Amino acid sequence: MESIISVKDLSKIYIMGTTEVRALQSVSLSIQKNEYVALMGPSGSGKSTLLNLMGALDQPSSGSIILNGRDLTTLTSKDLDSIRNSRFGFVFQSHYLLPQCTVIENVLIPTLADGRRASTPEDEKRAVDLLERVGLQDRIQSFPGMLSGGERQRVAVVRALINQPALLLADEPTGSLDQHTAGQLAELLAGLNRDLKVTQVVVTHSQELAACMGLVYELREGRLAGSDPKAH
Ligand SMILES: Nc1ncnc2c1ncn2[C@@H]1O[C@H](COP(=O)(O)OP(=O)(O)OP(=O)(O)O)[C@@H](O)[C@H]1O
Ligand SMILES: [Mg+2]
Repeated sequence: MESIISVKDLSKIYIMGTTEVRALQSVSLSIQKNEYVALMGPSGSGKSTLLNLMGALDQPSSGSIILNGRDLTTLTSKDLDSIRNSRFGFVFQSHYLLPQCTVIENVLIPTLADGRRASTPEDEKRAVDLLERVGLQDRIQSFPGMLSGGERQRVAVVRALINQPALLLADEPTGSLDQHTAGQLAELLAGLNRDLKVTQVVVTHSQELAACMGLVYELREGRLAGSDPKAH
């Protein structure tokens, strides 16, 4: 199996005044290509901390994060910006769409980073194809304010995929949706893994969402408490 990203002995300590918060303690794991992994655990157990470290949104206190044979902890912030934009897609509990931009404009924003001033026709075709894939073909020119919460989250997923990232990282992507809409988004993510081979790590409190995933990692007080491999 081909490893997309490995973290080794990863620790994160937040210093708050005179107290230290040990958010993550010596976590090691590897994400393989095409895997669909759930990250679960109680509130405060370090899920977001681990996801943010894997996506180079934050720096660990110690340990290494290996992507394509390179340790991200040794890179400059400029290199990290570029890697973050080209290799990772992020989805959060809030969609973070720009209200003044249309759906397609929002989706194309990540294609404009790294000094590029215009999206290519290939980017645009890919955006339209992905929006069709998630059932939003009639909403391409809509503004986010005209969409439902579930539709906005689907736009956020498409935006996360527009640069063909090696890894989609999602932090409670269904957290602000009702149960029915959350179920639809869970199905969509499962379909992206199954059909488009999108490798994903998804933080979730939802047993329902975790049930469709190949592997469940459980964090407890900043440590990996176990993994529950399931047959796909
Ligand atoms: N920026 C920060 N500064 C200080 N402490 C932090 C910071 N971010 C997180 N923490 C602490 O680190 C620990 C892990 O937090 P984290 O956000 O990773 O938990 P989580 O598992 O994602 O929880 P939740 O399910 O509530 O989102 C918690 O004790 C939290 O208070
Ligand atoms: Mg969190």
